[in-house]
Amino acid sequence: MADKKTFYITTPIYYPSGNMTIGHTYTTVAADTMTRFKKMQGYDTYFLTGTDEHGQKIEKKAAEAGVSPIQYVDKIVDETKQLWKLMNIEYDDFIRTSEERHTKIVQKIFRQFYEQGDIYKAEYEGMYCTPCESFWTPTQLVEKDGEKVCPDCGRPCQPMKEESYFFRMSKYQDWMIDYIETHPDFIQPAKRANEMLNNFLKPGLQDLCVSRTSVKWGIPVDFDEKHTVYVWIDALSNYITALGYGTDHDELFKKYWPADVHLVGKEIVRFHTIYWPIMLHALGLPLPKQVFGHGWLLFGADRMSKSKGNVVYPQPIVARYGVDSLRYYLMREMPFGADGNYTNESFLTRMNADLANDLGNLVSRTVAMIEKYFDGVTPAWTGAVDEALDNPIKEHCAALPGLVSEQMDKLQFSQALVEIWKVIGECNKYIDLTQPWVLGKDPEKKDRLANVLLTLAECVRFVAVLIQPFMPSTPARIFEQLGVQDEALKAWDSLASFGALPQGLKVHKGEALFPRIDVTKELEALSGKEEKKEEKNAPEKKEEKKPEKKEKEKKKVEIPEGCIGFDDFEKIKLRVVRVISCERVEKSEKLLKFRLSLGDEERTVLSGIAKFHDPEDLVGKKLILLANLAPRKIMGIESQGMLLSAVKVNEDGSETLRLLTADPIMPDGAEIG
Ligand code: ME8
Ligand code: MG
Repeated sequence: MADKKTFYITTPIYYPSGNMTIGHTYTTVAADTMTRFKKMQGYDTYFLTGTDEHGQKIEKKAAEAGVSPIQYVDKIVDETKQLWKLMNIEYDDFIRTSEERHTKIVQKIFRQFYEQGDIYKAEYEGMYCTPCESFWTPTQLVEKDGEKVCPDCGRPCQPMKEESYFFRMSKYQDWMIDYIETHPDFIQPAKRANEMLNNFLKPGLQDLCVSRTSVKWGIPVDFDEKHTVYVWIDALSNYITALGYGTDHDELFKKYWPADVHLVGKEIVRFHTIYWPIMLHALGLPLPKQVFGHGWLLFGADRMSKSKGNVVYPQPIVARYGVDSLRYYLMREMPFGADGNYTNESFLTRMNADLANDLGNLVSRTVAMIEKYFDGVTPAWTGAVDEALDNPIKEHCAALPGLVSEQMDKLQFSQALVEIWKVIGECNKYIDLTQPWVLGKDPEKKDRLANVLLTLAECVRFVAVLIQPFMPSTPARIFEQLGVQDEALKAWDSLASFGALPQGLKVHKGEALFPRIDVTKELEALSGKEEKKEEKNAPEKKEEKKPEKKEKEKKKVEIPEGCIGFDDFEKIKLRVVRVISCERVEKSEKLLKFRLSLGDEERTVLSGIAKFHDPEDLVGKKLILLANLAPRKIMGIESQGMLLSAVKVNEDGSETLRLLTADPIMPDGAEIG
């Protein structure tokens, strides 16, 4: 048997200086999603993450907490692993730079560099940014309020003078420039390659100071023990030490190196695309195929970061809405490579629109109709095809795996999801066009109805297979509802052609996949929770976020008389509904009784409009329902909402009334707002 193609992907190893945030979760979810996708396609995958535990910052944090550095990081590593478990992250290895398997090899690498003349000893003078653990030359610093500050984080730097080891980066400058210029895929997105060339390489690469005498919490240089290895030399090596490089057990290294992609935030692209390649080159090793520098999740205008204190943690979000919702949001909200704002509002809005409405409704409508018209068992495909209606959706769905894989190969997670959701949208349109409820009334159309519902169910199956890497637990719930048990029908290979869904599956309409949520209520609940969680996790940095919130509240108060605020408006839930049936209420001159479809549910509503509309004219119409009006009983019948209408007063004082209608292309239940 031919060996499977391998795929090795890494996240940065994170500083365990505080608990991991939604920002760290972002990269880790991306790596996990990519791994699952490649695994599904049959690759032999390896996914590495871990923690970068040495350095002055952690030394300081531990001292403040009154514990040893290792005690300090042990606790955070524990919590990090729990978080990854919660997020359904399936890494193959978690490397800690404090582990012996790492430290020993870093010492060996450092010694090799020294012995082959890549590292030399000299006196160093420069500016040091402690929070970033970065040395800067005076020309690299930027000016802020008359002070020279760190170009990465904008905080003041301190002058530093010490005897140090230096890596001859300058020696490799031309080679590095040439490599980047001749390997256009190496740094992605491409604009970051230009930044590296123009800002760092072409102006002249400085030799890098790679040891410290001032930092005790680090890996000792084994031939000169008052020095410890600079954190970036230490940290970057993790990508090969984790694979057993430099040991007698280097099977993983032989199998997986070079990495297919290092995922990193854009602030550390420099380390990964200049220092790391030069280190590897000096070791005679091949370079990773790609370094992808993704954008930042911002909170307000700023990058969320532990050291700035404006942090969102995933746990309370997951506790309330489930892992898959958050994973979906993170991969969907912003293009990989660009910055984006995290807000609870955009998260909740996406949950409602993409998950509850688009995906959730499609699944529940499809299953409900198979229950209703075929006793809950998938019928056989029939010859009753309407080519004009069926071919486009079948062809689109059959092409979907290719479209998704094309985006995934570019790490365009959000675009891959957009492709999947296009098919979901097309399915919902297909329901409106084929009108299964009309076909269902005509026994002669049974064959046609069978094909329509199978087409939908097959599209749902494609979608469920393709979202597995993004949302690991939702597909199982969809397969359960569709009655798909055969593992082969859940696999990538089953998407090779459209129409594999067999006859005789027993569907089960289950709970809604994603309940529709009340955004206003949830926003309140979340902001309360978030603050509590934050205090628990990061007692030392309470100040930053709250003032912003207060300001928002203040803005809310000034509403001119006679107006309602946006929040009040948001309480009003208006939905497009389709009239399933409509009849006069016995013994009433005014009342019509409606049965209405909201897509995922049906309602009975009474309306006092019998004088203005004939019930038979209304069947099939799309009307507008105030959906969250408290139910009330009229003539012994419970009315669950109110249909909106417009009234005109005539010259003779009489009134003319018409129910408001919606564009027929709007699906049952579409939200209005
Ligand atoms: O830099 N938006 O560790 P770190 C997007 N130890 N990504 C974010 C983010 C945000 N707001 N916040 C964090 C280090 N990240 C070094 C790395 S690698 C050899 C050593 C993610 O704890 C993103 O991947 O500061 C970023 O690069 C990384 O976490 C920084 O983690
Ligand atoms: Mg950082």
